[in-house]
Amino acid sequence: MIITIDGPAGAGKSLAARRLAKQLGFRFLDTGAMYRAVTLAGLRQQIDWADTGALAKLAAASQIELTDEQVFLNGEDVTKPIRSFEVTTLTRHAADNLAVRERLTGLQREFANNHNVVTEGRDQATEVFPTAELKIYLTASDEVRAQRRFEDLRSRGEQVTLAEVLEKQIQRDARDQQREVGGLRMAEDSIEVCTDGLTADEVVAKLAKLAKATQSQGG
Ligand code: C5P
Repeated sequence: MIITIDGPAGAGKSLAARRLAKQLGFRFLDTGAMYRAVTLAGLRQQIDWADTGALAKLAAASQIELTDEQVFLNGEDVTKPIRSFEVTTLTRHAADNLAVRERLTGLQREFANNHNVVTEGRDQATEVFPTAELKIYLTASDEVRAQRRFEDLRSRGEQVTLAEVLEKQIQRDARDQQREVGGLRMAEDSIEVCTDGLTADEVVAKLAKLAKATQSQGG
């Protein structure tokens, strides 16, 4: 069974998806981490971001592996560095690159092959797993999302202001929505869940209920 969780940055997808997967005994796939890993590889090689061919080549040559908790780039644990503000800001280059998307989409399908998976991203329901048994579209208001991201970055020692985070979030949302391939769109058969005012426990409980209902229908 495949459960997709798509939605904008800061809606609470990662935490909810990870915990839901654990509760159900499913694998967890963080697809944003893949785009971030390619970006980190580019940063380290001081790539020219305008050179889309070079980025595609780099993505093809990079070994990206995910476990439920960690992300590895060419064997190195990059779980922490891929979360920096710099990587977050630059990830659009990897996300806009069709060849990179194709490579990462292939890895995502491989990861899910013959497994029960909770996967989260932007295009999981629409492009990568259109036949997923349960599709969730997780949202929250702009202010709530920016506040969450701000607290997350500050807790990791990043010197950012809430205004900066909100501004970058607005830019990233626009890019994510306008991207022709792999853009952020709600699938027709997705169920929208707004996380404003809900604790992480409440969100997971809601999703687990939907998953159980799907499972009992034979999904
Ligand atoms: O979810 P996260 O914030 O880690 O994703 C980082 C970036 O990767 C997003 O802003 C988005 O541009 C891109 N992304 C994507 N497709 C996905 C997951 C993430 O384009 N399936």
